[in-house]
Amino acid sequence: MAGQMKVLFLSPEVVPFAKTGGLADVAGALPGALKRLAVDVRLVLPLYRMVREGGFESRPLLKDVEVPLGSFGLKAVILETKVDDGVPIYLVEREDMYDRPNLYGDAMGDYYDNLERFTFFARAALRVAESIDFRPNLIHCHDWQTGLVPALLQAPPKQAPFFRGIPTVFTIHNLGYQGLFLEEKLPVTGLSREAFFRPEGLEYWGKISLLKAGIVYSQAITTVSPTYAREIQTSEFGLGMEGILRHRKASLHGILNGADYRTWDPSRDEHLPQRYSVKKVEGKHQCKKDLMREMGLDLSLRDRPLFGMVSRLDKQKGLDLLVEILEDILSMDVGLVILGSGEEQIQESLQQAAVRHPKRIGLKLGFDEALAHRIMAGADIFLIPSRYEPCGLTQMYALKYGTVPVVRATGGLEDTIVTFDPRRGTGNGFKFRDYDPDAFLGAIRKAVEYFQDSKRWEKVVTNAMGADFSWDRSARAYLDLYKSLLRR
Ligand code: ADP
Ligand code: GLC
Repeated sequence: MAGQMKVLFLSPEVVPFAKTGGLADVAGALPGALKRLAVDVRLVLPLYRMVREGGFESRPLLKDVEVPLGSFGLKAVILETKVDDGVPIYLVEREDMYDRPNLYGDAMGDYYDNLERFTFFARAALRVAESIDFRPNLIHCHDWQTGLVPALLQAPPKQAPFFRGIPTVFTIHNLGYQGLFLEEKLPVTGLSREAFFRPEGLEYWGKISLLKAGIVYSQAITTVSPTYAREIQTSEFGLGMEGILRHRKASLHGILNGADYRTWDPSRDEHLPQRYSVKKVEGKHQCKKDLMREMGLDLSLRDRPLFGMVSRLDKQKGLDLLVEILEDILSMDVGLVILGSGEEQIQESLQQAAVRHPKRIGLKLGFDEALAHRIMAGADIFLIPSRYEPCGLTQMYALKYGTVPVVRATGGLEDTIVTFDPRRGTGNGFKFRDYDPDAFLGAIRKAVEYFQDSKRWEKVVTNAMGADFSWDRSARAYLDLYKSLLRR
């Protein structure tokens, strides 16, 4: 390949513009890390209401770009902005599709026109690159919202002639979100039924699956940890996609995410009442006291362990296990702080517990970036009992903040957390294997036991804070993969 490598990078969420979960963190950091490896990366993102209201400076790039959608051509306006590492982001503005309170849906469910919204996004992204004559060497797509792109590049050349021969990489951040739509809507995508709506294509149990489109039609598939890459090839974790994933095994890679320490580092975190580091950890006590006060907890417990959790409230995250053992946890004279948003039912059961124990449980429902940082810093122990976890970023952040993770041994949690061994002084947290309340409680009891032994606790905290999951290593792994595809 002559000259600088060019990559078009498509994600439906990117920090600091729009975020519902870890994908936004990844898409906000990986492009910058690739840029540092001399890759010319350009991002495309829908201009959601959240982005418009974020007050980011932008400049008009293209007016009235015509984007095909079904049998129509709709116009979009494209704005350009940059993240602080100088990676350009092209924002696709189309009010009737993206000017809404949320990214994908609300309490009633997914937005009814998500197929239109993300088909439009996929096609607009290609149109933008073409209009500015940015012919990438490779397109990197993330999750079902961008899964159509690999399929469009395989469609008869007239669909995307500018991109002929360009390989696509598709990253699965979560197999649980499959982008399912009724078969009747296939014309929206512009793909032919004969060629694409087939079991070996994007058909999934009689429906369209944009996730499957990404898996089937991309040249390489990645997911966000080595363990999850293996798990999704089994019926326990594959959610019906295990067959196709096994079939594509040779092209499936597990690349662990990184943590963006520009944002998640207690020594420079602007959200904290006091900053601290592994060399000077005292500030963490102040963070704990302030957090307990802010959440209305009983300050007489300030020398006892404070548990923290920051999570989407989704079945994936194992909150049912937590609810089952809450009384046992509280009987150890500890406090618990939870920040989360998501499913109504999970919110209600947490609310009931918080009402029963107002001085022991601090619960905040909603999305609150600053509080997430204060919990990372103020808690002693961070809980992640996930049913499955493709990578998980909060355990990596917790490590850096000296907040010791107790996690279920699955996916990226298995790959990043090593159970503390007091004899050898190794390990950075506590893991349990079976999805079972007693197993979870057992790991928590172990953590509390060592917490009470200050010498040992100091050791586990130091080990945790010393872990290094910076993005450079992951970015290099992506770059190696890109290069291997371009050599073919
Ligand atoms: P997932 O992507 O499955 O939600 P990750 O651990 O990869 O899980 O990433 C979650 C990200 O979202 C982290 O940056 C975490 O701090 C953030 N987060 C989750 N819930 C909330 C919330 N209610 N308020 C603020 N940040 C949240
Ligand atoms: C998904 C997964 C999470 C992962 C994140 C970023 O939302 O649930 O485990 O860390 O994507 O890859």
